Amino acid sequence: MKLCVIYDSKTGNTRQAAEWIAEGMCSADAEGRAFSIEELDEEFVRESKGAVIGCPSYAAMMTPDLRTWLMSAGKLGLAGKLGGAFATEQYTHGGGEGVVRSILGAELVFGMLCYSGGGSCGRPIIHLGPVGVNGNVEPHNRLENYEENFRVFGQRFAAKALELFGSRP
Ligand SMILES: Cc1cc2nc3c(=O)[nH]c(=O)nc-3n(C[C@H](O)[C@H](O)[C@H](O)COP(=O)(O)O)c2cc1C
Repeated sequence: MKLCVIYDSKTGNTRQAAEWIAEGMCSADAEGRAFSIEELDEEFVRESKGAVIGCPSYAAMMTPDLRTWLMSAGKLGLAGKLGGAFATEQYTHGGGEGVVRSILGAELVFGMLCYSGGGSCGRPIIHLGPVGVNGNVEPHNRLENYEENFRVFGQRFAAKALELFGSRP
């Protein structure tokens, strides 16, 4: 089963998080691939049973580029696919969770089936979607601290997609 992770990233943090999610998907028997919004394999996205979408927090909002991309994403046939969201930020309270909420809102508008695992999967508990804080300004933080959350999220997302849609491609 194909699953995609779609991201906007300017300095590499969100790209790294997307790759961890895709690797988590692959470790759960799915074909997970990560694409930036600039280099999207549209055929792979159309064939995917699920899409996880993420970006950095910019002023506690999704990036303008992701918003613009989402406005034209209806053509990708996202309706009915499993949907998830993630974000990165440089402050612990830098708005990443709000970014996740707004991406999930857009996914619901497309008719996607949104999934985070929430508290149903035990630890690590991921409420709405994984958010990672990089080490730009907080000395105690680094994106690698959140690697497990991104990987586990990818695994759980793939397991749910396989449960819902079966293992056929
Ligand atoms: C224009 C701009 C606005 C930003 N606003 C926030 C913010 O509100 N909160 C925050 O924690 N980080 C903010 N950041 C930092 C980024 O969210 C953070 O470094 C992120 O991991 C960058 O992702 P990327 O490396 O994938 O581009 C901002 C960065 C830029 C360039």
